[in-house]
Amino acid sequence: MDQQRVDGLQQQLKNARPQDILIAALTECTHIALAFSGAEDVILIDMLKKTKRPFRVFTLDTGRLHPETYRFLDRVRAHFSITIECCFPQPEAVEQLVQNKGFFSFYQDNHHECCGLRKVEPLKRKLRTLDGWITGQRKDQSPGTRTGIPIVQSDSILANEGHPLLKFNPLAEWSSAQVWDYIRAFELPYNSLHERGYVSIGCEPCTRPILPGQHEREGRWWWEEATKKECGLHHINVVSEDETHQ
Ligand code: ADX
Ligand code: SF4
Repeated sequence: MDQQRVDGLQQQLKNARPQDILIAALTECTHIALAFSGAEDVILIDMLKKTKRPFRVFTLDTGRLHPETYRFLDRVRAHFSITIECCFPQPEAVEQLVQNKGFFSFYQDNHHECCGLRKVEPLKRKLRTLDGWITGQRKDQSPGTRTGIPIVQSDSILANEGHPLLKFNPLAEWSSAQVWDYIRAFELPYNSLHERGYVSIGCEPCTRPILPGQHEREGRWWWEEATKKECGLHHINVVSEDETHQ
């Protein structure tokens, strides 16, 4: 990816509204889609819908999501009358993992192997068909890994395959309060788990509610260190963190 192009976009969009960042993303890329999983992403769908331009949405169904999350996915689909492209893991790889190590190996030897098969491989397969993707990541989601996320970046996830990819994070500067103000103001659907103390929601065995005062990602992979709390979807966050400490 031409770094000058990314720097130019970053400069152009640094104070832009998320709506304008989305329009720039749709203009800049030919094959682009929003990665959908939670509250932030519903906002992005609402904003994309309001652009009146065609857009695509995909989700990674790991097979381990909460029943509430599946219901939420269907509510979003109906609310916006959109197609959500579902990406499933390779069955043979998951069969082998479960056969060798059982259904909960991540509690013993960390989440990377399971996330690798259930999330990262399907994500890479989808990204090979795209030249850009949009996420709902925010800087204040994680003090450990997300404070440096830019509005737009060149994603290195497929770099060893020589596949250039732009990654847009239109809500990078938003706070959790802004997210929920928007959801309430426009009466958007949300995951009912939020009514039971869940904040950041991933797979069922790896997500739990948090207590008042805890940081939102403390309910994810709670048995692991805070700095390891990226599953590989946003590998670049961890890479940039490492680089800044070299
Ligand atoms: S994760 O890497 O820890 O799981 P997080 O739940 O914070 O990510 O979500 C950040 C962004 O990553 C979401 O706004 C969404 O764009 C993308 N994302 C996370 N999980 C999925 C998923 N299962 N399917 C598609 N996109 C996802
Ligand atoms: Fe597996 Fe947990 Fe990662 Fe989901 S979050 S893919 S269940 S390790």
